[in-house]
Amino acid sequence: MKFRPLKIGKLKIETPLVLAPMCDVTCNAFRLLCKDYGAGLVYSPKLEEAKFRMDRENFDDFLPNERPVGAQIIGDDPENLRQLIDAIGDKVDTIDLNAGCSKRNYIKLQWGGWLSSNPKNLGSILSKLRGFTDKPLTVKVRLGSNRKSPEIFETLKLCEDAGIDAISIHGRFVMHNYVDKADWSAIKKVKETANIPVIANGDVFSADDAVRMFDETGCDGVMIGRGAIGNPFLFRDTKIAMSGKVPPKEHSLAERMDAFFEFVEYYKKYNKEPDFKVLKTHAIWFAVAAPGTRSLRVQIQTVKNEKELMTLLNAARQK
Ligand SMILES: Cc1cc2nc3c(=O)[nH]c(=O)nc-3n(C[C@H](O)[C@H](O)[C@H](O)COP(=O)(O)O)c2cc1C
Repeated sequence: MKFRPLKIGKLKIETPLVLAPMCDVTCNAFRLLCKDYGAGLVYSPKLEEAKFRMDRENFDDFLPNERPVGAQIIGDDPENLRQLIDAIGDKVDTIDLNAGCSKRNYIKLQWGGWLSSNPKNLGSILSKLRGFTDKPLTVKVRLGSNRKSPEIFETLKLCEDAGIDAISIHGRFVMHNYVDKADWSAIKKVKETANIPVIANGDVFSADDAVRMFDETGCDGVMIGRGAIGNPFLFRDTKIAMSGKVPPKEHSLAERMDAFFEFVEYYKKYNKEPDFKVLKTHAIWFAVAAPGTRSLRVQIQTVKNEKELMTLLNAARQK
């Protein structure tokens, strides 16, 4: 199987592997790292207009070297969303509206996942956004509110009518959490009726999963979330698998630490006030993915500052 470029409006992405938006994970440093390892398109975590306005100084900025990059926005007020788009528009290549987040506070606000259960509202917001920007515009949805009401087909139709350029589908319902498996067969059915590119999302943890997702759903792109946390190798391995070769079965701790140090370099270079807690969290994520690192993970928990962390991980790398 060969990759076909993913086309999102005027944007052509050669490698159709997408880093999912993830709050507290997909900062600019991690996005750059995933790019280095083969991701074709990377997304910011969801951005809220009010938070962005209040904390602009410390905002995790978009960088020229991570392009193509997408900004994900969340909200329900088109005017607020327009202001956000205007503020970040020049620095990004595509804008995505979050219509999938199932956190209770967002559902209460009728933001995020609420919109996957209420397609007409979603369609109306997207039509207005379409009028505000000629940038490629996408939406990230779930299948609907619950198994009994798979609103996704109505959602797709209204999104197409609104003139958006692609749809990302997380193959779960809003009522579902990660215990339920993502439903790839539902994504396949949507893809069969779609007139816009479909980016499939949910439960890709290995190169084999990613190849199967292309194969089983017929999707135009695969979006990877949790599988990429501490594990940017997943993008490179998938590219290897898609070229017909066999990717490595495992990545050694040394290799994982090298990737972590690359992340640290980006993080310190592009953040005015690097946060030690962020480094520590990512360090654990990178270590977790390697076998036999339980004691290292415990040790990482106990380090008090960056110097101690680097000394510990350098020693682990050389073992
Ligand atoms: C830590 C974390 C943060 C997330 N933040 C966002 C977010 O900001 N916006 C969004 O649309 N989805 C968010 N998600 C959902 C993911 O983008 C993705 O849809 C979901 O995890 C399913 O994909 P996966 O099985 O590949 O992880 C988040 C998921 C995780 C685990």
